[in-house]
Amino acid sequence: MTRVVGIAGSRRTGSFNQALLRAAVEVAPETLQIEVASIAEIPLYDGDFETTNGVPDYVTQLKERIAAADGLLLVTPEYNSSIPGVFKNVFDWLSRPSKDIPRIFGSKPVALMGATPGLGGTRMAQAAWLPVLRTLGTNPWFGKQLYVPGAGQVFDANGALTDEKIRKLLTDYMAAFAGFAAFVEKR
Ligand code: FNR
Repeated sequence: MTRVVGIAGSRRTGSFNQALLRAAVEVAPETLQIEVASIAEIPLYDGDFETTNGVPDYVTQLKERIAAADGLLLVTPEYNSSIPGVFKNVFDWLSRPSKDIPRIFGSKPVALMGATPGLGGTRMAQAAWLPVLRTLGTNPWFGKQLYVPGAGQVFDANGALTDEKIRKLLTDYMAAFAGFAAFVEKR
């Protein structure tokens, strides 16, 4: 079994990106287990807080979950053509202290996807993640791309994925990423 941690970068109850992550869990092949991690408990990064108290317990636990996993699935919203601050903040905390970065993130397979109500489908946000993933020494997967535009028409009022075309793209994406993460895990 290949295990990856899935994180959606929105705290909104009706988040399309959380809905996309749930759909990814649903369609993932049997060989791939996606553990969904919440970001709701992660405070704003504050260097004074870190100096006095260290990294918050929840962040430490999430770091260890990532270290133990075979990969990461990031489901990113797009704000102002880039990474939402809320999501970037999570990775700023996860990268502390910086001496832990190689152990937590080194060569970790990472897949990116995202949903927007508009036309762009998070193209700009996904591109903005690349320098972050490079800085953390990850192994980003470029085998497929998944942009979900028009999210208001793709999910129903309960956040269920109802668009069959996107479901097929998501299913193919998850199967291909599962193959990559399993291959890296074996090496
Ligand atoms: C947005 N939104 C947005 N969408 C987009 O495609 N490109 C963009 O640059 C932005 N910019 C932006 C800035 C801010 C501050 C907000 C609040 C929103 C719209 C965004 O895609 C939409 O709110 C999504 O629904 C956010 O993702 P979740 O919360 O549904 O997962």
